[in-house]
Amino acid sequence: MTEPAAMHDDGVVVVTHPLVQHKLTLMRERETPTGVFRHLARELSLLLGYEAMRDLPLETVEIDTPLEHMQARRLAGKKLCLISILRAGNGILDGLLDLVPSARVGYVGMYRDPETLEPVEYYLKLPEELDNRVSLVVDPMLATGHSAVAAIDRLKQAGCSNMVFVCLLAAPEGVARLRAAHPDVRIVTCAIDRGLDDHGYIRPGLGDAGDRLFGTR
Ligand code: URA
Repeated sequence: MTEPAAMHDDGVVVVTHPLVQHKLTLMRERETPTGVFRHLARELSLLLGYEAMRDLPLETVEIDTPLEHMQARRLAGKKLCLISILRAGNGILDGLLDLVPSARVGYVGMYRDPETLEPVEYYLKLPEELDNRVSLVVDPMLATGHSAVAAIDRLKQAGCSNMVFVCLLAAPEGVARLRAAHPDVRIVTCAIDRGLDDHGYIRPGLGDAGDRLFGTR
């Protein structure tokens, strides 16, 4: 029997579709060049976005096809919001914008103070009326979960109330931390890897997603 295309477990959706797993493997490979890596991230974000938007509300409208009048379904409510956690989140933002071109877009930039270890916000720009929108918060890697939790804390302060966290790859530690801090936020990912190493990298992982997306070191 074939596996279901997505496995759901306690607020975590792993998209197991063969195309997703194949593209993720190409991204993991060390020799995959920057341009291909970036293109794959965009393609995977389309496929993850499809799953992440599964619960969007619909409404019924009256339309005319070339042949007859009918009642049809369309997305209801305020425009969706996409929130990129800088900078690597931008690597999956574009694909999601292809899916929902009218989405509103926000950015959160945070870094960890090396002395206090507290997250410090260096950039925040968000659309209005976040309390009436579904927001997809995007970051390719859910590693320790510290920055995801800090960003979502901040987004809740700003009024975001209905969020889904979308990432390419997660570590069990990050999933546990995010679920414990924000059990209302669903996680959608392509895979949950073995764990974190001493430097906070996901193993086996795909390396530094930001560096591989943007060709930096
Ligand atoms: N961020 C990355 O880009 N890669 C990891 O493995 C962990 C965090």
